[in-house]
Amino acid sequence: MTARPRGAAAGARQPGPTADAAAALARDRIASLDDLKAATMRCRECPIGEFATQSVIGAGPLKARLLLVGEQPGDQEDLQGLPFVGPAGRLLARALEQAGIARDAVFVSNAVKHFKYELRGKRRIHKSPTQREAAACLHWLEDEIALVQPPALVALGAVAARSLLGRAVPVLANRGRWLPRADGRQVLITVHPSSLLRGPPEAREQAFVAFAADLALARTVVRQGR
Ligand code: URA
Repeated sequence: MTARPRGAAAGARQPGPTADAAAALARDRIASLDDLKAATMRCRECPIGEFATQSVIGAGPLKARLLLVGEQPGDQEDLQGLPFVGPAGRLLARALEQAGIARDAVFVSNAVKHFKYELRGKRRIHKSPTQREAAACLHWLEDEIALVQPPALVALGAVAARSLLGRAVPVLANRGRWLPRADGRQVLITVHPSSLLRGPPEAREQAFVAFAADLALARTVVRQGR
């Protein structure tokens, strides 16, 4: 967890505790979301954190019955320190409403806690995390699951599905299905809302309806808690 000096080569080996030992130490300390924020702010178990503004952990009620997991924070999330507050977040909020799920009843997070990007001029363009980076971040996500203890989760896209299920899951072939995790929790597979924003404009409405229909499969889980 030793911070790499700015400008040092990404992925260069650092002195100090091994990543596994550092991760084990960090795991012991996570008893609240404040602990998680502080620990992820310091985290340099992969190179992404060095270049982000801050870590972005999950948000929502700690007693939420449904935990939605995206890929990683985007530009707006990195600046505001909150998940799903940019364009993909607005679309997700709309789809949840359409699905009959109150946005403020669910906990929303990401597989990776820092924004990975490349600079094009002044613009920060989203770059997908590598499998190694997502794997390095997994214990933070598991800490969140342990804090929230949701009976069910939603994987928004392939990165989240792999992190939650420990294997590659073809999203289009499995969307709308509940798959079990090793801990017995069920994971609903669906697409990432950003994929809707990237699709052809004429297909967006249909893609939105299908996304909201996937999310609606989790409605009863949320309502059982009321
Ligand atoms: N995309 C994600 O996967 N997560 C966010 O928080 C924002 C965009």
